[in-house]
Amino acid sequence: MNQEKTRAFLKKYELESATLDPERTLTDFQIEMEKGLAGKTSSLAMIPTYITVGEAVPAGKPVVVIDAGGTNLRIATVVFESSGEARIEQLDTFMMPGIDEELSKDAFFSQLASYVAPVAGTADQIGFCFSYPAAISPERDGKLIRWTKEIKAPEVEGAFIGKNLLAALGSKGAGKKITILNDTIATLLAGKSASEDTDYESYIGFILGTGTNTAYVEKNSNITKYPGLDPAGAQAINVESGNFNKCPRGPVDLQFDETTQDPGKQAFEKMISGGYLGPLCLQVLQKAVEETMFGEAAQKAVQTIRELSSETVSDVLAGKVQQEPFTSDALRAEDVQTIKDLFSAVVRRAALLAAINISAAVVKSGAGDDPNRPICINIDGSTYYKLHGFETLVKENLKKILQNSRHNKSYVLTFKENAPLIGAAVAGLTH
Ligand code: BGC
Repeated sequence: MNQEKTRAFLKKYELESATLDPERTLTDFQIEMEKGLAGKTSSLAMIPTYITVGEAVPAGKPVVVIDAGGTNLRIATVVFESSGEARIEQLDTFMMPGIDEELSKDAFFSQLASYVAPVAGTADQIGFCFSYPAAISPERDGKLIRWTKEIKAPEVEGAFIGKNLLAALGSKGAGKKITILNDTIATLLAGKSASEDTDYESYIGFILGTGTNTAYVEKNSNITKYPGLDPAGAQAINVESGNFNKCPRGPVDLQFDETTQDPGKQAFEKMISGGYLGPLCLQVLQKAVEETMFGEAAQKAVQTIRELSSETVSDVLAGKVQQEPFTSDALRAEDVQTIKDLFSAVVRRAALLAAINISAAVVKSGAGDDPNRPICINIDGSTYYKLHGFETLVKENLKKILQNSRHNKSYVLTFKENAPLIGAAVAGLTH
């Protein structure tokens, strides 16, 4: 009885992955990618990065690396051994500026500079993995388009990140060369740097952590919005797939979007990434209470939940949650089961969407038709690896979408520890 009710609820609120047509959404992704490359209106920014893949990385030369992610800011120096292994030194972790309190532009850059200053003297090159949408100049500075992941420093939007950081570093920034790259580009490069012995035809970087995004390698001749590029070359593209908005969304998704800092933006990210899956599941629970899906005592208990993280959702699914009210006696076994079924539906949908997203990059790359030269898909992000059952679900979906008579693509999924730092080091030393 309860299961039937849950099924009807999921159907009514369009939360079931079974109603999604993967091939249709994949095609919509492709269309948005094409439009983005042509400079037409598209939810996918398709940002050219001026970063080429496969440049020789000099050994023994230190580079300062900065990794500004969703929650943490990490700073280190990296040196590559002659074997190609990266040595990470002086690693320090801080909170990302603007995550807690709103910062002015000056306060943002001076806070950032105060973290970088102690290691600034160790190298002339800085590789800066900046995990937000930024338009990249031919010199590889990055102009922040807009913040995502609920960062509060609005005056920084529209500013060049590299130039302003060097200015805030004062004399310590003099003569330094800074390369700004997205974390997906860093992840793609880290995949390449770890694959010296394998003949991959192309590379993809996919992130699913607080936020989500994808990078792949595109022929310059297909980047028609930048006619001046060498038509014989290719470069990594930052898709900004988290903003994809052609994916069917249901009433709870739309309602949830209104509760975020940037309604209307990052529609796809709000359905699949770690920063949002918890709050989205909370919205689903609140809707379930409205529809009296639980017993009387459980209804009241569920209503007391003010915050829900993706980690707690994962613990509920794994059956090891410690947190109230999930352990409360007010919840009968069937209430607990209903909560599990609801969370599981949201997570299953997210895994299918993540697989569609990766598949879109695979198909758009044009590579992967020769089984001897697969595509290397390097994946980073805590949500992908830690959310209960997620990785397995993505792999199953990828197989269904990409290994059939229609696509028949060869790919290998890889993981490289500290990919953002290593990719930033590669970019800083080679570009
Ligand atoms: C940002 C991307 C980033 C992704 C993963 C998104 O919110 O817009 O630039 O790559 O998160 O960190």
